[in-house]
Amino acid sequence: MSLIKASVFRSSKRAHFANLACLERAKRHNSSTPNTFNTAVEAAEKLVQPSKSKSFNDPFSIVSHEMSSLAKSIASLIGSGHSTLNRVSSYYFEAEGKNVRPLVVLLLSKALSKIPLEERNRIKIDSQDVTEQSVYPGTPQGTVVAGNSVNKSISPLAVLHGINPKVILDPLSKPMDELPQMDAANGILPKQRRLAEIVEMIHTASLLHDDVIDFADARRGRPSGNIAFTNKMAVLAGDFLLGRASVAIARLRNPEVIELLSTTIANLVEGEFMQLKNTVISNDESTINNDGEIKDIPKPTGKVPVKQHNYRVDKPKEVDHNVNVDAAFEYYLHKTYLKTASLMSKSSRAAAVLSGAQDNIIEHCYEYGRNLGLCFQIVDDMLDYTSSNSAIGKPSQADLKLGLATAPILFAWREEPNLGELIGRKFSEPGDVDIARRAVDKYNGVEKTRAMAEDYCMRALKNLRQLPESDARSALEFLTNSVLTRTK
Ligand code: FPP
Ligand code: MG
Repeated sequence: MSLIKASVFRSSKRAHFANLACLERAKRHNSSTPNTFNTAVEAAEKLVQPSKSKSFNDPFSIVSHEMSSLAKSIASLIGSGHSTLNRVSSYYFEAEGKNVRPLVVLLLSKALSKIPLEERNRIKIDSQDVTEQSVYPGTPQGTVVAGNSVNKSISPLAVLHGINPKVILDPLSKPMDELPQMDAANGILPKQRRLAEIVEMIHTASLLHDDVIDFADARRGRPSGNIAFTNKMAVLAGDFLLGRASVAIARLRNPEVIELLSTTIANLVEGEFMQLKNTVISNDESTINNDGEIKDIPKPTGKVPVKQHNYRVDKPKEVDHNVNVDAAFEYYLHKTYLKTASLMSKSSRAAAVLSGAQDNIIEHCYEYGRNLGLCFQIVDDMLDYTSSNSAIGKPSQADLKLGLATAPILFAWREEPNLGELIGRKFSEPGDVDIARRAVDKYNGVEKTRAMAEDYCMRALKNLRQLPESDARSALEFLTNSVLTRTK
């Protein structure tokens, strides 16, 4: 329970009980009316009740063993022979994050294990970590090829290190803690546990880079990586985490999962790029902030032909206002998918692929992660308007100052077309940010954003209902509701 804040679950519980109380009142009020109304109420009751088997579960407790060993396992994957690199790359893992991504992968893996084995025959399930799957096509039957475990390499260590292998600088030289084999009662496969670790490593790498891009000064209640160690070290540590995550991805030995996870890395960059094109930071494109020292970007020497790209999208003329706003929402949701929902959806899909589940279940897991991810980021964008710095552990109300037009201001723009000019100039003129904030209040931008997030939350809950009932599924339902009601 320590990783996902207790308060989040308490408020989710309150919201849930409020829904139930409301239904109870409605039922009492209509006890004299014939059955249609009560039938509808009963159906609605089933929708708000997370599961018939158990009304509430603490999502963390169900996978507490795996979650508590997550940090240790990640530490064994990222240790390097260079002490400063170790410090920077482990910095964000030291402070308590939400850990939503690995929690979802682990709970989903456990929920998928409740599907009978005979219905999970899409691939041969690699439950022992070392199986006949390691017999590569073309090798004589029964030959075990090196590197079949999530911890073992295929390439000789001397090649992986690229240095004298006798100089033990790198933990890849040392035997790592083997992941325990699948615990029959637990149902989570070793490769699914490794998947949870990989997902957190990719996410953390993206945060190290994101804080440089956003000029952040705080994360998880501490100075952000760029402030604590300089921009250069933060970027390099992020790159290093990605490198180590890539080795771990390759060792999952599943081409479909390798493709999914590699694509999430590309998607994160695509999403961030879409956002970058929309920010005031691009006003600064003639200079580089080199750890406090502002330098001009070197001018092309002329030795190589340079094509200048135009990153600014001109405002379309004479286009209907609503069509413009629709296009802006479409851009916003696409960016949000790439930036946040891609990692959740593709890792959920990867967990399902590893479980051997059939295509329709794989699709629902993908859609679950997609809807949850969209809900998560839309709530994040809403909290940027409603929370204080201390409540969220990072600077709040930062989006407008960065020139970002997220859902609350887009909803206000729909009602107030003049805001288009401010959005177009990325709120860069004095007073723009205040005008935008007042418009969000006036046109209920925050409330409309919450309703949008709620819609994705409901869709995610619907996807979950395609899985068999279990405590893990109830825990996921609970977690999904908590993403909507969280305050940080
Ligand atoms: C947080 O967004 C940032 C992300 C969800 C993704 C950032 C992606 C990159 C920087 C691309 C590079 C990717 C890799 C894998 C190295 P936010 O700024 O809205 O949230 P915040 O308030 O927590 O900073
Ligand atoms: Mg940021």
